[in-house]
Amino acid sequence: MNDSKVDIPSFFSDKSKLLGFDYSKIKELCNSEIDHSYPIDDLTPLVKKEILLEGYFKSILLGYNHVYLSKLLKDLKNPSANISLPLLHQWSNEPRIDNLVIISDPEDAEKICKRHIQKAPIFKSLLNTSIISTTDNEDWRTQRDAMTNAFLPKHSLQLVFPASVKRARQCTELLIKMSDDYTEPVDMSDFFLNETQAQLQKAMFGFSDDFEQKTNKRIRDAFAGINPEYLLEFSQDALNETMKSDGPASILFHDSKDIQKNIGNMILFAFAGHDTTGHTLTWLLYELCKHPEYKQRLIREIDEYWLNNAEENYNSFFQLPFMTQCITETLRLWPALANGTYRELEKDEKIKGHDGSEITLPKGTYCQIINWTRHRNVELWGPDVNEFNPDREFKDSEIWHHEGFGGYNVSSDRFSPFTYGPRNCLGKNFSQMEMRLILLHLFKHHDFTLEEKQEQSVNDPKYMGINTFTLGPASVHGGLLGMHVNIHLRKSKL
Ligand code: HEM
Repeated sequence: MNDSKVDIPSFFSDKSKLLGFDYSKIKELCNSEIDHSYPIDDLTPLVKKEILLEGYFKSILLGYNHVYLSKLLKDLKNPSANISLPLLHQWSNEPRIDNLVIISDPEDAEKICKRHIQKAPIFKSLLNTSIISTTDNEDWRTQRDAMTNAFLPKHSLQLVFPASVKRARQCTELLIKMSDDYTEPVDMSDFFLNETQAQLQKAMFGFSDDFEQKTNKRIRDAFAGINPEYLLEFSQDALNETMKSDGPASILFHDSKDIQKNIGNMILFAFAGHDTTGHTLTWLLYELCKHPEYKQRLIREIDEYWLNNAEENYNSFFQLPFMTQCITETLRLWPALANGTYRELEKDEKIKGHDGSEITLPKGTYCQIINWTRHRNVELWGPDVNEFNPDREFKDSEIWHHEGFGGYNVSSDRFSPFTYGPRNCLGKNFSQMEMRLILLHLFKHHDFTLEEKQEQSVNDPKYMGINTFTLGPASVHGGLLGMHVNIHLRKSKL
């Protein structure tokens, strides 16, 4: 078989290429010269290799790999099992099959992220040597040092707070328009993705209204596989726009001459900077609609906030403890980056095998430190693990303390929505800030209920989100993403 003829689709491929892929080709690649995978005792499930290869690859392309992996752990009767699977990929242009060791043991997850900073080359073909994709640790450190200030609470976020507030204040206008004056349900996934893209462009970059309006939908469509060729045009236009803008994220590009790196970083920011936060808000609204008692508690807290504050205040988030609990529980139950992070071991490392024995993985092994399986592990969270319970007992390190604007990474061995330091999410504090502002405004005068067909998803055990790199709500009306919600004007207590 001529391997060069096999064009392997990935997360971001054109949808027709993705859906039209002939999976029988994969079986033919198993045990061919491109296959470097091998079984590891106590890590590789006792299932035929070609079945694992096809099943896992299909689940990735079709967006249910989180469910597929949970099922493998269930079959092993061990929710914390680390497993090794053969993965077909094209990370370095040529198709290749390698072992991917998927870590669900909490201690091993934290240990590997902290000790092995080097990324697997998973995003290189799309994002070049951007901060998230570079496999060179020195390059990563240089970029991280240069970017950190742009995301620090006092240095930067306090300065962009007014722009973030300004945009949040406008969001209800759009909501009313999208609902045709409260007469039609609104796709709140689309709404939140629009708002978080606008927040990113207006607050973090300081881009003009004109640029934001021209690009917002087009760039989101491109990420959803509609005209993906627009990505390059967008990144070039956006890089030009940074030269006219002085938001903290724009300043990062002012003196940077490496065009390929700049393009990669611009595409990364445009995607990671909106999609993750948009999905988190959508899942949160979904859970609140499913649980009206929690929704009412949040509304009471928000009413109280507006009674005590004439306007939004950067140092006032401590007045929203229940909102913090709801956001934290959403980050657990519906981690936008369900896949977590992918690393290449920098040296030999010991992890646990299925029977608890110690297994040494050689330097160079690819590992996925997945969030989904730990965030939904019954042994780590208790019997209500699959329920939305904002009153859950979080550990101190897992939740923002209600003492002002916490500039830190919420995490523990069982919980890592923004993954672990030192290579954790740069935008975590900005996202915590914008989510609170958007929620404060949405609920100020509005209430929400699920639209009829969306309501049916509540009792559908298969409704587990679609994981096309990030975990979003699969549309119940066809198409990729969607969350259909009725909007009600509520009599404000103010
Ligand atoms: C709820 C919202 C968010 C979640 C759950 C989230 C989660 C994550 C995770 C898990 C990673 C690690 C990915 C990996 O290692 O491959 C990451 C990295 C990153 N995120 Fe976020 N993110 C969010 C919002 C944002 C926002 C708003 C921005 C930008 C404004 C952003 C920028 C970044 C960047 C630049 C990195 C790469 C950091 C590095 O490699 O040093 N994220 N994020």
